[in-house]
Amino acid sequence: MPGLMYLRKKYGNKKPLKNARIAGCLHMTIQTAVLIETLIELGAEVRWSSCNIFSTQDHAAAALAKKGIPVFAWKGMNEQEFDWCIEQTLFFGDKSRPLNMILDDGGDLTNMVLDKYPQFSKGIKGVSEETTTGVLRLYERVNKGTLPIPAINVNDSVTKSKFDNKYGCRESLVDAIRRATDLMLAGKTAIVAGFGDVGKGSAESLKQAGVRVMVSEIDPICALQACMEGYEVVPMAEGVKRADIIVTATGNKDIITSKHFLATKDKAVVCNIGHFDNEIDMAWLEKNYGNTKVNIKPQVDKYHIKGKDVIVLAEGRLVNLGCATGHPSFVMSNSFCNQTLAQIELWNNNNTYKNQVYILPKHLDEEVARLHLEKLGAKLEILTPSQAKYIGVPIKGPFKSEAYRY
Ligand code: NAI
Repeated sequence: MPGLMYLRKKYGNKKPLKNARIAGCLHMTIQTAVLIETLIELGAEVRWSSCNIFSTQDHAAAALAKKGIPVFAWKGMNEQEFDWCIEQTLFFGDKSRPLNMILDDGGDLTNMVLDKYPQFSKGIKGVSEETTTGVLRLYERVNKGTLPIPAINVNDSVTKSKFDNKYGCRESLVDAIRRATDLMLAGKTAIVAGFGDVGKGSAESLKQAGVRVMVSEIDPICALQACMEGYEVVPMAEGVKRADIIVTATGNKDIITSKHFLATKDKAVVCNIGHFDNEIDMAWLEKNYGNTKVNIKPQVDKYHIKGKDVIVLAEGRLVNLGCATGHPSFVMSNSFCNQTLAQIELWNNNNTYKNQVYILPKHLDEEVARLHLEKLGAKLEILTPSQAKYIGVPIKGPFKSEAYRY
């Protein structure tokens, strides 16, 4: 994680997070452990929970606990325990020392603090949010006038969503399906619902494994992008009849419902890589076919629906963290540099922000990318003064306007 190591070197002595009491709720993986250690090295006190009941790597949590870092997470907790864990991160030692910063992934911690403990919001300098779904919840709050603290949308740093969501899923989707099923992927047919950043990475992950991929979309631009990449674009109701593997990646709800389950092929594998489990109607499946369920191994269940089997991974929760270990460290270093920079910014310059959602300035986004180039042996061109003048950008960047879409 070269970016995080650089930030430790750059800021370690200055302790820009001194006196910050950061409550974090983000998949408790080995990569997150390195983020937590970085925040501590920069001066913060940290308490942590995981944002998904299946995503904790117990060895990562145990390593932190051994160092005396309060972490409340284990793989395979239930929903009550999930809430209990988040609640344990709100007080630092005693009740007089509540959190004063939030680092969230998906918004469950933010919602708990703002809805259940609204009295804390006065002392909180800000929240940095990791993912598309959590950011959506923050913008909803802004529109309703219920966001009492400034927020930084980490997801929409280019070096986050265009890397973690896309290239991360490109590695981790197929990894999860393989670890869960040992299925021969080449020659199979799959459908990916949603062709946003996660869907793009997921579709490519399957394509690289020799899978024939279909895509379902609501947005004509994303649908056209899928066509340009060579994918067949079909409604889910159609694709599900032909697919051996069905993946939801929309951040929306009700993507796989009863009618889709009833139309699947025998032994179809159904999984979700979006943040919440409501993309797949697990409640219907459990209610009607729960009695046929065979637990093949942890996070792999087989249901029998009208003469055929359906294999559901991670109970419909995000599969790459439920059935595998999430994204590789290198890509998470990019995401977590953005998280660290967002925490430093909110903690030190809170008074320059309103209770709105912001993204980090482009020069920091470019800086995060720059920190990861050397490790890959990449060497940049340097603009000459006359070239810089010709395209109208400073020699050292930022190199693109805000309108540029990468
Ligand atoms: P995005 O907004 O870029 O893409 C979602 C796509 O789904 C959009 O193109 C949208 O038009 C499409 N969509 C919405 N409703 C649909 C429907 N009914 N049928 C077909 N397509 C539909 O969002 P992004 O960044 O791709 O994130 C998707 C989800 O994945 C979010 O919940 C996000 O939080 C989560 N996520 C998961 C990660 C993981 O490692 N598992 C990593 C990053 C994000």
